Amino acid sequence: MASTTGSDSGADGSLGAPVSRREGAAKTAGEARYAAEYTPEGCVYAWPVPATVPRGRVTSMDASDALALPGALAVLTHENAPRLTEPDDGILYVLQNDRVPHRGWYVALAVAETQETARAVAEAVRISYEEEPHDVRLMTDHPEMYHPEKANGGVPGDRERGDFDREFAAAPHRVDATYTLTPLHNHPMEPHAATAFWRDGHLTAYDSSQGATTVREALATLFAMGEEQITVVSEHVGGGFGSKGTPRPQVVLAAMAARHVERPVKLVLPRRELPAVVGHRAPTIQRMRLGARADGVLTAVGHDVVTYTSTVKEFVEQAASPSRVMYGSDASRTGHRVVALDVPTPSWMRAPGEAPGMYALESAMDELAVELDLDPVELRLRNDTQTEPDTGRPFSSRHLADCLREGARRFGWYERDPRPRMRREGDLLTGTGVASSAYPVLVAPSTASVEALSDGTFHVRVNATDIGTGARTVLAQVAADTLGAPLASVRIDIGDSDLPRAPLAGGSSGTASWGWAVHKACSELLASGGTKATADTTEDVQGQQDYARHAFGAHFAEVQADTVTGEVRVSRLLSVFAAGRILNARTARSQFIGGMVMGLGMALTEHSVIDPATGGFVERDLASYHVPACADVPDIDAHWIEEDDPHLNPVGGKGIGEIGIVGTAAAIANALYHATGVRHRDLPLTPDRVG
Ligand code: MOS
Repeated sequence: MASTTGSDSGADGSLGAPVSRREGAAKTAGEARYAAEYTPEGCVYAWPVPATVPRGRVTSMDASDALALPGALAVLTHENAPRLTEPDDGILYVLQNDRVPHRGWYVALAVAETQETARAVAEAVRISYEEEPHDVRLMTDHPEMYHPEKANGGVPGDRERGDFDREFAAAPHRVDATYTLTPLHNHPMEPHAATAFWRDGHLTAYDSSQGATTVREALATLFAMGEEQITVVSEHVGGGFGSKGTPRPQVVLAAMAARHVERPVKLVLPRRELPAVVGHRAPTIQRMRLGARADGVLTAVGHDVVTYTSTVKEFVEQAASPSRVMYGSDASRTGHRVVALDVPTPSWMRAPGEAPGMYALESAMDELAVELDLDPVELRLRNDTQTEPDTGRPFSSRHLADCLREGARRFGWYERDPRPRMRREGDLLTGTGVASSAYPVLVAPSTASVEALSDGTFHVRVNATDIGTGARTVLAQVAADTLGAPLASVRIDIGDSDLPRAPLAGGSSGTASWGWAVHKACSELLASGGTKATADTTEDVQGQQDYARHAFGAHFAEVQADTVTGEVRVSRLLSVFAAGRILNARTARSQFIGGMVMGLGMALTEHSVIDPATGGFVERDLASYHVPACADVPDIDAHWIEEDDPHLNPVGGKGIGEIGIVGTAAAIANALYHATGVRHRDLPLTPDRVG
């Protein structure tokens, strides 16, 4: 194992080299087309109508004024919209009945010759509701709170190992603290959008999605069609962060409207409506109980998560997960409780479970270090383990300790005075904090094909999705590396459901999943000596049960707190990751930094609340929901340790899309404690709370 950084050395096409994005020039020139930038002949426009009550029934719809507007074409409602087959995912069952499960649920769709007219038509529809009492408040003692059998990702709802109550009670050093997070929103730069048309019974949809194969499957179910009658294109996607990982209403509505008016239809969801219809990170109330011996070794780990789901479908943010992975202990009890409220359905947001869960665990570890008067890096080193506590399986590789040591060295960690509130300059207090990071290695079966052309070039085809990460580029590198061919000789097609089927870009699993299939296809091409090969990794992936696989990392933050205004600013943020083989130094560094910035936003600026009176989110756009701007991120530094893990996949990567956000908020909050000597357990750390 050697230490390295994301320097721009070796700018050839080899695996690991910092190759620039293939589509970069097209994107900067405005030539790369996103879902709403396709305008088929005769295309018309749709605009949605959200429910304006928090719960109830639509009792009447009057579209007569709306349809009288020049250019109006149709108003789809539950009374006239095409019928759908009920899907597993209830959020896609739109305009099928009169129910309003939450404020912002779509109850109608206006269609018109222009987007402006469609909006005017939507606003002119008169709707009456029968309103019912609603409940949107998350409370730990809510009478309808229950223990789910499974949380997101199939994670067991509750786990117990050893006698937690006894070990915690007997521990000479204890932390018992509760941490809260508000709802958080995915706000990709490109709002959710779709352009759809029908021709000779074939549906084509350009959709802003993290996985066109998944969207095609959903549309096939909804419209009771064969998958071969549907093409979904997601060639370029302007971010998703999980909100485009599952199919979303825009593509269903666009397809319904296109069938209804018999014209191509384009639908872009208004930014202010996204929080209600594209999923969000559910709020969490997390009670952490840690018990330790005087030397810092943990004897008891307790992590109780309280969160909400909607009445439309059960989604449980699996925030207790990290406590089942990170540190050894004699006993642990980890679990989730959830209540179905009249809220928009929560879903995936970058590192679901891990991001909020690690905030709680790593904050509690910092509190334990204070209680023990032990350096927080040392506390983590003393509890490192090579066996996954929850399952007893060995880790395929785990270099958490190396990340902590390397990060401490690069950051200058040991120059700190461990006592809080010691660095003051004028009104500013400065402090430093650390937190660990981890994210599971997920991989899904994929297919891919490769063809050797007579001019000596290669054509790789796989329905991967590039959500801005550089997937297209990295997969070309994988192919070139496997074939022993120059990068320029590899042409790659992705982002179209007519290509070999492949899983979505989610769970940091894309590159490993698609790359495995690309590697296998290219290997088989070489072995066969033929001109074409296709590969399917289903059996390879299913064989992986023996090891616990996770990427690890460590974050180091320095913050400055203004004692007059309460403003907290991050002055330095440095992280070191161990995530297997890094396949492209440039795009990997960008992914890490992107995750870290998102963690900074989680710590300092991102806040959302559902107004109990209206049942709707108050922060609904980028003017009210604050994500970090460049000026919020002065010095940010991502490094990695080269990790050679033979138990992963032929490509050797662990996935890097989500680990950057995991633990970052804890490092920042811990630094704020060190700066001020005051512990804050509710994010975000805004001036009104800190001052
Ligand atoms: Mo990510 S939240 O799995 O798209």
